[in-house]
Amino acid sequence: MNAPATNLKDYLAEQEKKSLLRFLTCGSVDDGKSTLIGRLLYDTKLLFEDQLSALEKDSKKYGTTGEDIDFALLVDGLEAEREQGITIDVAYRFFATDKRKFIVADTPGHEQYTRNMATGASNSELAIILIDARKGVLTQTRRHAYIASLLGIRHIVLAVNKIDLVDYSQSVFDSIVADFNAFAARLGFASQVAIPMSARFGVNVMTRSEQTPWYKGPSLLHHLETVDVDTALAGKPFRLPVQWVNRPNLDFRGFSGTVAGGSIRPGDRIAVAKSGRASTVTRIVTMDGDLTEAVAGDAVTLTLADEVDVSRGDVLVAPDARPDVSDQFAAHLLWMADEELLPGRQYLLKMGAATVPASVSELKHKVDVNTLERLAGKTLALNEVGYANFSLSQPLAFDPYKDNRDTGGFILIDRFSNATVGAGMIDFGLRRATNVHWQALDINKAARAAMKGQKPAVLWFTGLSGSGKSTIANLVEKSLAAEGKHTYLLDGDNVRHGLNKDLGFTDADRVENIRRVGETAKLFADAGLIVLVSFISPFRSERRMARELLQPGEFVEVFIDTPIEVCMQRDPKGLYEKAKAGTIKNFTGIDSPYEAPEHAELLVKTVTADAETHAQAIVAWLRDKGYLG
Ligand code: ADX
Repeated sequence: MNAPATNLKDYLAEQEKKSLLRFLTCGSVDDGKSTLIGRLLYDTKLLFEDQLSALEKDSKKYGTTGEDIDFALLVDGLEAEREQGITIDVAYRFFATDKRKFIVADTPGHEQYTRNMATGASNSELAIILIDARKGVLTQTRRHAYIASLLGIRHIVLAVNKIDLVDYSQSVFDSIVADFNAFAARLGFASQVAIPMSARFGVNVMTRSEQTPWYKGPSLLHHLETVDVDTALAGKPFRLPVQWVNRPNLDFRGFSGTVAGGSIRPGDRIAVAKSGRASTVTRIVTMDGDLTEAVAGDAVTLTLADEVDVSRGDVLVAPDARPDVSDQFAAHLLWMADEELLPGRQYLLKMGAATVPASVSELKHKVDVNTLERLAGKTLALNEVGYANFSLSQPLAFDPYKDNRDTGGFILIDRFSNATVGAGMIDFGLRRATNVHWQALDINKAARAAMKGQKPAVLWFTGLSGSGKSTIANLVEKSLAAEGKHTYLLDGDNVRHGLNKDLGFTDADRVENIRRVGETAKLFADAGLIVLVSFISPFRSERRMARELLQPGEFVEVFIDTPIEVCMQRDPKGLYEKAKAGTIKNFTGIDSPYEAPEHAELLVKTVTADAETHAQAIVAWLRDKGYLG
């Protein structure tokens, strides 16, 4: 037990000196995580009187432990959790002993909440993986161990919990440990300690218990107090991801952020990772005055001797140990969204203070978390782990994740929902594309278009199958050709016979289909043509990507808005009939979604007039907007 603090200041000073261990707990539902954390907090006496009496009351009301105190209630703070009996968010708890301070991330074990484990793990040094002694090693156990290793956690405690419910059996314990070790050996943890435990009864939690005389290892707390997790972040090369440029007045310009690696002193040289520009640190400014040194973990503002161009998202680095700078890298990816990962789709990639559009250019393989085998795959589903090449819209500075978790880790964000959909750990930078430069050509798009007496444009027709896209696009092209305009029509059915004949109709294939067509349309526009694109193109995300490939004003989205009932009635190719009968799968509007445009330049309601009338209206619009010269 901690000696009572006589004086708050002394107490805080004492706490300050102790080392800090960050760890996380993970396990399957009901393995007893919350109980274990509650037990640690209770036994280290970090509970206040009022919390204790509330706990006793709650134990009677909600508890599952009869008249005993239900420690889980201490930790499962949320009403919803209590009612469902699951933990749904990462909760950070602080406690301390005479030897160390601890921050524990309590992460949910329920299947769909793997993302929270990644959140909790990203700055933890050790993971406690809980196993219910009655159930042994589960898929979830392996998943947690594998994710912990991917997230750079080097120390594992295997807490074989509820050992009381298997009569404190050594053989049960031994076989679980053997089972786990067979799997975890391949993950290369620096330390791996298995402890038979009963969180509920405190067996081997604070001290070694007489209930398990055969167990000769440390108690959990003893191990947590003594395990050497030296992360030596301060010994790594200096890194400061710039969160913001601090410019309160004309005389002061500082770069603020948290040191992510190494240390820095006034007088040290630094470089801006991306531009390579170098300077010398003049001051290290903090809320509590200037420092003579800042180390990893410190939030500081640096001022520099020279006027160098630095903006939010840049990284200040040691000039002699620079990070990689590239717009491509290979990384492990943990997928956390219900919607699958679609290679080729643009997501926002956030790393430190930088956020850039990025996509998976190639999914190399998925990983079977049970066997660690590599599997072929075109997408990743919820909780799946894969290894992929990424392509970014602009270069970023980064380190391999194994060297620095802060400058080597990133998250992916969905561009429409803003939800975090993936967590990535960079393996290494790829250089291929950065060796390819743009060739400057004398005859450019403007020259090509001028010769044809027109402005290049991409008329992007989107709508359901049978909506009339191709019919109207064909009439528009005929009319433009009659005027002597230079055009090209890319039609889904036709392109799928050649360039895209390797693609089907899964979401992943449709994304790739539109990516290729978008790139092709861009080339044709560069040739000075008026391009007509007629594809279902059901996803907003890829239509937006195609739009962003072109100059402002060049992309004209034409929504051929025909109610599905009408398309079904027309059914020009008899496909709706087959889709309804189930002989065609993933049919748009039947068992595959269509995301209607929200801001199309042109909206064509086909039921209001015939195709020729609509085509003429489109041509008139083009003329009005100056595309036809
Ligand atoms: S897209 O969704 O990837 O843009 P695209 O326009 O290339 O589709 O191809 C659509 C055409 O393929 C349809 O007009 C139809 O003739 C045919 N097709 C065959 N199977 C399907 C399907 N499952 N869903 C939609 N269209 C299909």
